[in-house]
Parts: sequence; structure tokens; C-alpha cells
Amino acid sequence: MSVMDHHGKIERNSILLLVLVLIVVSIGGIVELAPLFYLESTIEKVKGVRPYTPLELAGRNIYIREGCYNCHSQMVRPFRDENERYGHYSLAAESMYDRPFQWGSKRTGPDLARLGGRYSDEWHRAHMVDPRSVVPESIMPGYPFLAKRELKFEDIAQHLKVNATLGVPYDAAMIEAARSDLMVQASVDADGVEDFKARYPKAQARDFDGDPDRLTELDALIAYLQMLGTLVDFSVYQPTAGDNSR
Ligand code: HEC
Repeated sequence: MSVMDHHGKIERNSILLLVLVLIVVSIGGIVELAPLFYLESTIEKVKGVRPYTPLELAGRNIYIREGCYNCHSQMVRPFRDENERYGHYSLAAESMYDRPFQWGSKRTGPDLARLGGRYSDEWHRAHMVDPRSVVPESIMPGYPFLAKRELKFEDIAQHLKVNATLGVPYDAAMIEAARSDLMVQASVDADGVEDFKARYPKAQARDFDGDPDRLTELDALIAYLQMLGTLVDFSVYQPTAGDNSR
């Protein structure tokens, strides 16, 4: 009896075919799934990635509150056109402390994953108040009220705590200093800026909204926008052997 005869038997017996299909599919499933139970994390560690500073976190909350993700993604895909327009493709590690992540799926406006440092604070101020003042053809709505509203941050330590519960490595000292760290980052030449920068490497501390006397929602939002995509130094970043996304 040849192999083909056996095959004919399977094709004429639907129950037998079903059982054999199930066996083959489950082998495939187990091979794909089993290793995940033995891995501590599927995200490779990347140098430079750190939790958000309290001010950046407050800015991120405003970004989410205002629904910026409805028009902006935060993930550069590993395609040449995207890399030439935005920069290095996004790494999983870069959003590992994002709760919830902001990858998005809609790009009415451009991707913002590599936005940090691309424009000056002045540009962001003008753009957030009235996008058409700097990009005449823009269809983005203005958010002029952000510059007027005082930033509410009495509960910022709680935000860090909740993130810590979810696995973001905020330690007790960071949570304790959350309020003062937030104020230090938004002011010029404040005491404690050294301690703050030791806790959050690469953090930028200055007055972001152009009004040093007030701490507004715009301070927080611009602090957040200016750090996006700046934590990993891609001039020295080496993908590991397992990274086949290029
Ligand atoms: C209705 C869709 C829409 C919403 C909502 C929106 N944007 Fe935009 N955004 C755009 C468009 C379109 C552009 C491109 C034109 C421009 O630069 O204004 C843009 C551009 C930008 C840019 C410049 C990006 C670059 O690389 O040039 C930034 C920064 C930005 N938006 C931030 C925000 C933030 C922060 C929010 C939420 C407070 C927001 N946007 C909400 C549509 C939107």
C-alpha cells in the first residue's frame, strides 16, 4: 500500500481528518506558546529606558485626557519610509513603562514617538495654542486653555504608586519626592535639581511654558513631548541577535 492510499482514507473519513488536523494544530500551538511560560520577559532590556519623571507623567496624563492619541500614533514601524521620516524604529522597551501604551493606530497627524528635541519649546507653545500660527495648512485643533490652567498635581505621588503596583520601577524615594521633583523639573535653577537628575537620567529641567511664575498644564505637556524618543542613544544601540525586525 502506498502513502497515497493512506491519504485517500483520511480524505474520505471526515472525523479522522478532523482529529488529525487538531493534533497537528496543537503541536504548532504548543511550540509557539510553551516558551513564553518560561521567559521572564519578552522585552529585551535597553540602556537608557527609565520611568517617566513626575512632570512627564502629568503631561502624559494630559495627552491621554485630551485624546491626542486619536490623531497621533507613537510607534515608528520598521519600514524604510518611516525610518527616513521619523527616525529609528520603535523598540518594545521604549514603551515598557507606558500604562496604557500609546502606540495608536490612527495617523491624522504625524507619529510622535521620536518627537523630543525636534522643535523648540517656543514652537510647541505656539503650536499648541494655535497650530495654524506655525503650520498654516494644519487641521489640528488648538488647545489654548492648557497655557492658562494651573497644573493640578497634589495626587502625583499616587500616580507613581499605581504605576509601581503595575511593575514600573518607582522606588520609595521617588514616590516620596514626587511632588518636589515635579516642581524642580519645571523651574529654572531650583535647588535639588542634581538629586532629581540622578533619579531620572537625561531628564530636562527648565521652564517649558514660557511663564516662569506659573506651573501650567502646558509645562507638563511640553516636558512630556520633549522627552519622547530621547532615552535610547541610537548612535550606540546594538540590536541583539534575537532582533529580526530589520
Ligand atoms: C484632529 C486630529 C488631531 C488631534 C486631536 C491632535 N493633533 Fe496634533 N497634529 C495633527 C495634524 C494634522 C498635525 C500636522 C500639522 C501640524 O503640525 O499642525 C499635527 C501635528 C502635531 C505635532 C507636530 C508633529 C511634527 O512632527 O511635526 C505635535 C507635537 C502635535 N500634533 C501634538 C498634539 C498633541 C499634544 C495633541 C493633544 C493635546 C494633538 N496633537 C492632538 C492632528 C491632530
